[in-house]
Amino acid sequence: MVIGLANPLLAQVNTNGVDSFTIKTNAIMSQMTLQQKVNEMSGNGIEKLAISYLLTKRINPVKFGGNKKLGIPEGVFFDGPRGIGSYKGATAFPVTSARAASWDVDLEKRVGLAMSEECRALGGNYLGAVCVNLLRHPANGRAQEAYSEDSFLTGEMGVALVTGIQTNNVQACVKHFALNSMENNRFGGNIKIDERSLHEVYLPHFKKIVQSGVASVMSAYNKVNGEYCGENQNLLVDILRKEWGFKGYVSSDWQYGLMDAEKGINAQMNIEMPSANCYKYKTIQQLLGANKITINQIDSLIFPIIRTKLVFEAAGSHQKFSKDLLGCKEHIQLALEVAEKSIVLLKNESNVLPLSKDLKSIAIVGSLAEYKQTGDRGSSRVLPKYIVTLKDALKNYCPSSTKILTAKNSDTDKLKSICSEAEVVIVMAGYTYKDEGEYISMGTMRDSTNPDKKSIPTSLGLFGLGGDRKYIHLHQTDIDVIKLVASLNKKVIVCLVGGSAITVEEWYVQVPAVLHTFYSGMEGGNALAKILFGDVNPSGKLPFTVPVDADDLPEFNSFAKEVTYGYYHGYTLFGKTQKPVRFSFGYGLSYTTFQLSDLKIENKNLSENDTLHVSVKIKNTGNRTGAEVVQLYIGFENSKIDRAKKLLRAFSKIELLPNEERIINFAVLPSDLAYYNAEKHGWEIEKINYKVLVGNQSSDSNFQKKEFEIR
Ligand code: BGC
Repeated sequence: MVIGLANPLLAQVNTNGVDSFTIKTNAIMSQMTLQQKVNEMSGNGIEKLAISYLLTKRINPVKFGGNKKLGIPEGVFFDGPRGIGSYKGATAFPVTSARAASWDVDLEKRVGLAMSEECRALGGNYLGAVCVNLLRHPANGRAQEAYSEDSFLTGEMGVALVTGIQTNNVQACVKHFALNSMENNRFGGNIKIDERSLHEVYLPHFKKIVQSGVASVMSAYNKVNGEYCGENQNLLVDILRKEWGFKGYVSSDWQYGLMDAEKGINAQMNIEMPSANCYKYKTIQQLLGANKITINQIDSLIFPIIRTKLVFEAAGSHQKFSKDLLGCKEHIQLALEVAEKSIVLLKNESNVLPLSKDLKSIAIVGSLAEYKQTGDRGSSRVLPKYIVTLKDALKNYCPSSTKILTAKNSDTDKLKSICSEAEVVIVMAGYTYKDEGEYISMGTMRDSTNPDKKSIPTSLGLFGLGGDRKYIHLHQTDIDVIKLVASLNKKVIVCLVGGSAITVEEWYVQVPAVLHTFYSGMEGGNALAKILFGDVNPSGKLPFTVPVDADDLPEFNSFAKEVTYGYYHGYTLFGKTQKPVRFSFGYGLSYTTFQLSDLKIENKNLSENDTLHVSVKIKNTGNRTGAEVVQLYIGFENSKIDRAKKLLRAFSKIELLPNEERIINFAVLPSDLAYYNAEKHGWEIEKINYKVLVGNQSSDSNFQKKEFEIR
């Protein structure tokens, strides 16, 4: 299957910079009244949907703009990052951070393609699935919706998802632009950031996705350097449009992501979602009458909306998509495959895993032993036909003679007895929507008259708790259970459930095996069973760092009114401070072993316009088929300025049979090694010696190394 369009927003432009869509858009706009223009600038309202939901218990998509007579397609929006949001029967894929752990861009494209089929099947053409806010701190409530602490991995996976989604004429929306990395105070928080950290750390993945041709960008709720993102001229005009050349449209985030019509128009905010709170006809008329804005500004706001809709209506697949695609067999199979490829094996002492298939008894304990979930209950919530827990899976998986035992955390006597009796104890421990997720509970919605105040929500009754995590270790009840069962049984396997890093120090040495399973989607239990029993060889790699001590992370205060983001977080921070980590970014075990050798650099003396070509040999040295993620970092130790010790700049996931070996080739552009010179407001490539570091995780010990020079 060939998936992918070149940048669809640029593809039609001829050498004079004019294209048929521009001509058509101009022709349509020349006939439009002001009322019709303003109609394009907002969603058609969530209130109607709330009423229809109360009557029918069905959530309909939010629509925006559209005019049949004029030939403007209507926009039809669906969430979200782990499948089609809030619509019964959709496929629930593993959450975004889980999919990042697959490090598999082709797989992510296929997820995008499947999501777009389900979106089209429901009549949608606009999908808010591409959430790429960087994981600055693991406590971020929406960590599960985004990929990683690393901008490069995030950018590659985000482009893959967009490419898959846009193949079926669905306009992908990348969100939340920008620096939306804390949840509880998402409406009121101001993020202060210096120019270099903004450009070099927090924006490159957005830039890559924008330049790959994403149709739309959603602004964030928070302020950046004192201005709300939805009204932020530096972000939306100077960077997004002027510097990156974005040709699509920006929509606001949904609970009053726009506070002031004039400011929004000056910042080129195209669409206010989901209803016209600021972009009301009367308001726009008044602003025009008072010469505060011009009709040219309105025209330049609606031009990209109409043109983008026309481009997407014409591009890609015109296949009809039947409703049978929703949660169909193929998509569910894909959800299973993704879960199998994303679960990360963190510890496997004395090869306690994989388990033997003729166990007589298995105990499944921990607070999540029987808990069915696919993640939080905010806007990214998916309502699949079913959810398979590990316990459900084992009932089908093991012979009927195998006893599957469970006990609640509170029932200490039963816990003791089943864990002493069982041959293996599996602890399912971690979080639920109550601990982390989008913060949508009573009293936490934004008040339109005062953004820092919270009002009572009027919307669809999606009342999760969520918000930022209070801490990043397990709940005490799970810690107690792990310690108790580890004192009774030697074969204890801890399966961690959560959207990002969970620290393990209280109990780690007492158990032989640990996995990070994320929120692994509707088929997660089946995937985990296959991994535990060795039918699938684990190949996930952490998309984040797990620290030893949470205090070594950047400061995180969920309710802070103002936070300063710096240059370092994640593995770049630990590289600088040399504080110990328990598991490095990029780390994950397999049931087989791999060996890297023969690192070669084609040309060690490069000019700025050359390409760095690197090859390395990888061999499966164990006796099982398995997949490894080969990771290429560039080392900046010779830099004259303060910069990260190393940064990920390429990766490749490859499956190998026992004893099979292959050569992997990488290409890196010197422009990808540039730093942002804030004094000159631009990118600069240092003329120094760099290091190529190739390994299977970001920690220094196992790298193949070679130097090269840019002159
Ligand atoms: C979230 C967005 C989401 C939108 C629509 C907002 O509150 O921040 O991510 O796409 O709601 O559901």
